[in-house]
Amino acid sequence: MHPAFETAHAATAIPITFATKATWDAICGELPPPSREFAKANGFAAKPGACLTLPSVEGKLAQVVFGLEDATSTYRDPFRPGLLPGLLPPGLYHFTNAPHNTRLAALAFALGSYRFGRYRKVDMPNVRLVPPEGIDMAAITRMAEAATLARDLINTPSNDMGPEELAQAAQQLAQRFGADFSCIVGDDLIGQNFPLLHAVGMASSRAPRLIDLSWGDPSHPRVTLVGKGVCFDTGGLDLKPSAGMLLMKKDMGGAANVLALALMVMDAKLKVRLRVLIPAVENAVAGNAFRPLDIFTSRKGLKVEIGNTDAEGRLVLADALALACEEKPDLLIDLGTLTGAARVALGPDLPPFYTDDEALALDLSRCAAAENDPLWRLPLWPPYDAWLDSKVADVNNAPSGTFAGSITCALFLQRFVENAKSWLHVDIYGWTPSAKPARPEGGECQAARAIFALLGERYG
Ligand code: BES
Ligand code: MN
Ligand code: ZN
Repeated sequence: MHPAFETAHAATAIPITFATKATWDAICGELPPPSREFAKANGFAAKPGACLTLPSVEGKLAQVVFGLEDATSTYRDPFRPGLLPGLLPPGLYHFTNAPHNTRLAALAFALGSYRFGRYRKVDMPNVRLVPPEGIDMAAITRMAEAATLARDLINTPSNDMGPEELAQAAQQLAQRFGADFSCIVGDDLIGQNFPLLHAVGMASSRAPRLIDLSWGDPSHPRVTLVGKGVCFDTGGLDLKPSAGMLLMKKDMGGAANVLALALMVMDAKLKVRLRVLIPAVENAVAGNAFRPLDIFTSRKGLKVEIGNTDAEGRLVLADALALACEEKPDLLIDLGTLTGAARVALGPDLPPFYTDDEALALDLSRCAAAENDPLWRLPLWPPYDAWLDSKVADVNNAPSGTFAGSITCALFLQRFVENAKSWLHVDIYGWTPSAKPARPEGGECQAARAIFALLGERYG
């Protein structure tokens, strides 16, 4: 079980009572008179996120009241209880009544306990929760562990998280679950026909590589996950300005999240044949860097003209998607931190997804809402496909205009997908810019839980 939880008798734990503006008066009326006075003296009104700790007559911590949105309010954050590990003193706690969603509240408790402690001592909140009744704690633990993996990988700075270290992380995961692991490194990418992956990664002293993990019964439906593993994105010769480059250690967020998703799939033993492909590179600047207007023949055979070396994610994904399609997967899913345009459209917390499979889109939207791992569908709008035309090659990686940048990126990737029964592309951000309940500032697990829920429904 996740360290945020401890199985114990509820009577031995400090009670946490959830209150709203509407229920507070009744809850307050049940409190011992001194506690009532204490609450009043503190001006406590059960505002969402407000926390009241009540002493016993001996001055010990007797009870906690935590404010939530009213049942009638238009938005109720199911992760609000994820604030508790950061607010409460060390101890063992239990819920005395139901928050808006008990399962997500328990998950939020674990997600809100995360701290990134690789480079300095951090105070891990020693705030533990007795598992609420009727909640599948193995499932909660699996999701929290997956989030920790994705967050740790993203938060680790590029000097300690290059293509090789990312491959090591994938290999460790493979070993843990008895999966097959292989990796094609450096100039072998040319011999094995990954020209775009090699072109993007060759300017770095840290060799590019294609990570390939497979797991499960080969007779089960084939689910292939592809994650953008750009361990740092300078933009290449189309160099990013410093403000745009600052956060680019997170440009392997797609890879981190497909590994998180793979962890959940393997831990839950879903009935799939799983394959994970991660093109891992550093988009660096050097004399041998690929250049604007260079033309490369991709793995699929399409001649790709480089309109912009900063549109590197779609290039490395293109070769990986082509490889994935060679074995005709039943479901092909790629995740990546691909465009700033997705953030302009929907902001950091709501990644757009793309698919032509209507049933998949409906199921995924439902799962995303149920898991509080929000996703929003945008269209693979065919009329914009012509914007990718090149005058001298088959396709250009970056249209000259700036309209609909996330859509044109998805359309670029679509040109490399064939023979997959279903294809899903998610343009994630992978980062929480300022802390929110259950979401500390920094690397974030995005889309993995929503997709896992969908896979669980189909292949559980
Ligand atoms: N990794 C970036 C996208 C990105 C930037 C994600 C900032 C999140 C935050 C990607 O490789 C990139 O640079 N995309 C370009 C594409 C453009 C050159 C067509 C972009 O979005 O500006
Ligand atoms: Mn880029
Ligand atoms: Zn990038």
